[in-house]
Amino acid sequence: MSNQTKTVRVEKPRGTRDFLPDEMEKRRAVERTMRKIVESYGYREICTPTFEHLELFTLKSGEQIVEEIYAFKDKSGRNLALRPELTAPVMRVFVNDCAVMPRPLRFYYFANCFRYERPQKGRYREFWQFGVELIGSDKPESDAEVITLAYTILRELGLDFELHVGHVGILRNILKGIDAETSSKIFRLIDKNKIDELESFMLNSGLENVYDKVIAVIQAEDIDSLPDFAESDVEKLRRVCELLDVCGVDYSVNTRVVRGLDYYTGVVFEVYAENLGAQKQICGGGSYRLAHVFGGENVPSTGFAIGFDRVMEICSPEVQKPLKVAVVHANQLEESIKLATKLRKELRNVVVVTDVMGRSLKKQLSYFSEFDFAIIVGKREVERGYYTVKDMKSGKQEELELEELIEKLFEKTSAWQKEQKTN
Ligand code: HAM
Repeated sequence: MSNQTKTVRVEKPRGTRDFLPDEMEKRRAVERTMRKIVESYGYREICTPTFEHLELFTLKSGEQIVEEIYAFKDKSGRNLALRPELTAPVMRVFVNDCAVMPRPLRFYYFANCFRYERPQKGRYREFWQFGVELIGSDKPESDAEVITLAYTILRELGLDFELHVGHVGILRNILKGIDAETSSKIFRLIDKNKIDELESFMLNSGLENVYDKVIAVIQAEDIDSLPDFAESDVEKLRRVCELLDVCGVDYSVNTRVVRGLDYYTGVVFEVYAENLGAQKQICGGGSYRLAHVFGGENVPSTGFAIGFDRVMEICSPEVQKPLKVAVVHANQLEESIKLATKLRKELRNVVVVTDVMGRSLKKQLSYFSEFDFAIIVGKREVERGYYTVKDMKSGKQEELELEELIEKLFEKTSAWQKEQKTN
């Protein structure tokens, strides 16, 4: 029997991606901006498991959602699922652990989600959402805060987008009494803007009267032209819009925004970006009720999730690069490691790297040619207690004692950081 290991080239699973360091630096820069903004509004981070009991997602959405998610059995036969989103998990945490905390609660998350989709540009099987949930209020100011927050993040990132705001309750009211499957189909057709299909479906289902009302709502150009049979919902939408005006948010009212998920009950919104083709929705959210489905109180909440990967397609963030210093040596490995360790301890925000390849001094300098400085440690330097510092951009060299060297790098880093900030 051969004990040789079989070699096979293994590719990543369909719909997933690898992110190399240049891309990760950009993603982290965007993530930092998002965190900074939501934290300035008092939102605090929450983290939930990557997988949950399957029923967390089927309880509200029904069994058909199983087709769209990664559902599996573990070795003990439990039905589990990789999370397709985080609203249901956050509400589970709320019901189980936070129900008695003072309200409202402001949570945010940045996490990977999984959906069994047909992959294409901007649509992945593993993707990241940056989202918030504001739990405990059904006041228009909570909707306005959440919408303003999404808007502020996307503006701060310099994106071109349109924000559309509607109220799903207006249509839900009209469709009250119609069975869940039929109304869900109606919502799907509206969501996909398939109005011809909507007409034939509703007329064939004997829903002519309801159809006229639905059309009156989805064809309304603005709040004032909405029919008056949904007055309280229309008033709520109007108040949210007034508050958005107060916050300087640019939006349009769009009553065709009904969202793909079943838990929404009130004001809903979607954000569409230019230049993204079919998958142009970069953010979606609204107010919903879900806690009671998980055995909690029927608490009103509102939130959104930004499709982080779609944002990354159209975003070119400034990446702050640290000052990079190489400690190279001529047969002085230990001394170079000691010096590098000292420099890392003394200086913050500086990258200090040493050779681990046993290379000649010349080859080390060539490998580190993109660095800002190289500090050369040779026998002479060690004996006399100074280091040769080479500016890798200008090629200039100078000889400095340890204290002077640290001082110089410290000054360079401060100047560097200032320059990066003003860029
Ligand atoms: P959602 O609209 O299903 O809402 O997803 C939010 C965002 O995630 C979408 O607008 C889109 O940008 C992004 N997204 C969705 N699927 C994919 C995919 N396959 N690949 C890449 N990006 C994707 C929710 O998930 C709700 N939980 C939002 C929410 C929070 N509502 C209230 N609170």
